[in-house]
Amino acid sequence: MDTKIYLAPMAGVTDLAFRLVSRSLGASQCFFEMLDSRALLYEHPRNRRLLKTLKDDSPIAAQLVGVDPAVMLDAAQKLITLVDISFLDINSACPAKKIIKKGAGAALSENTARLGKIIKTLSSKLPVPVTVKLRTGFRERNVKKFVKVAKTCQESGASVLFIHGRTMSQGYSGGIDYESIGSAKKALKIPVFGSGDILDPILAKKMLDETGCDGILAARGALGNPWIFKNIERYLTTGETTENPTIPEKKKILKTHLAYIEKYKDMAFGNKVGFMGKVTMWYLKGIPNAARARARISGIRSYEGLVDLINEVYPVPNRLSNLIPKSDFDI
Ligand SMILES: Cc1cc2nc3c(=O)[nH]c(=O)nc-3n(C[C@H](O)[C@H](O)[C@H](O)COP(=O)(O)O)c2cc1C
Repeated sequence: MDTKIYLAPMAGVTDLAFRLVSRSLGASQCFFEMLDSRALLYEHPRNRRLLKTLKDDSPIAAQLVGVDPAVMLDAAQKLITLVDISFLDINSACPAKKIIKKGAGAALSENTARLGKIIKTLSSKLPVPVTVKLRTGFRERNVKKFVKVAKTCQESGASVLFIHGRTMSQGYSGGIDYESIGSAKKALKIPVFGSGDILDPILAKKMLDETGCDGILAARGALGNPWIFKNIERYLTTGETTENPTIPEKKKILKTHLAYIEKYKDMAFGNKVGFMGKVTMWYLKGIPNAARARARISGIRSYEGLVDLINEVYPVPNRLSNLIPKSDFDI
């Protein structure tokens, strides 16, 4: 199977713990969380946290957000002395107001001269491929205009385009514009990856079928659901869907995820437990009988407390599970 299924870049989400769990369940490529080019140059303490990695956390890419080609080049050159990356991605997709206000993120797609200059500067000077993450539009959908932006990226030296099939104005809701992604794929020689609503294997196949794209990025579909990578791969290879993990299996993966956060995340104690609570909520979503556990999460003050809470979560009794002693669900 040669379809590439990557873990999408997600700021505040795809830390080392998330990446290790996703890789163990089939993600073939991950990204560090988004890096601000100026912050990278000014030795911001956040940089060391964001760049935390391990030998097993490979291959890994980095994504830079910025607006000034010279600053972005300096930042990228510094970055590659700190970590080994397989490629460098330019963020032209972020819809956050504070980023757009500076002319960065998705705003770059409205300023193709600048976007082209950034890509040209970085791709001509860096020893790693330069890629671009785009949205299918800024305020409004316009397939022709979007294909022009995509062509500018290719002509300026981009090696791959990652395309989120929504406009900046849509944020993270609304239908996916498969037509724009497919039109860019047809017009370009470089590989195109589709992003947007890769929430299950059927939607993953839909993205591939409707756009002809070369690979996909799983984003929100992987939150509390990191087995999505294996499930998609199996469906694309065999046409067979896979049962989601059993509740004991889910609990085991969640506990591994929390153990990685406990071990690797540099965060003040209270914030770290709060972050673990957020991760736990992702996994407990949709688990029957977990409502009581979800309601208790915010009151928990320690990693051990969270693990105890997870151990108390059981599936809804049905004819089969009624026969299984309670302790069998403890992992
Ligand atoms: C919490 C969160 C953070 C994100 N951060 C980034 C980011 O830093 N860079 C980026 O290019 N995209 C970012 N994205 C967008 C995703 O990579 C992806 O393109 C988008 O969520 C669409 O996919 P989905 O509908 O399957 O979630 C983020 C998305 C979410 C939900």
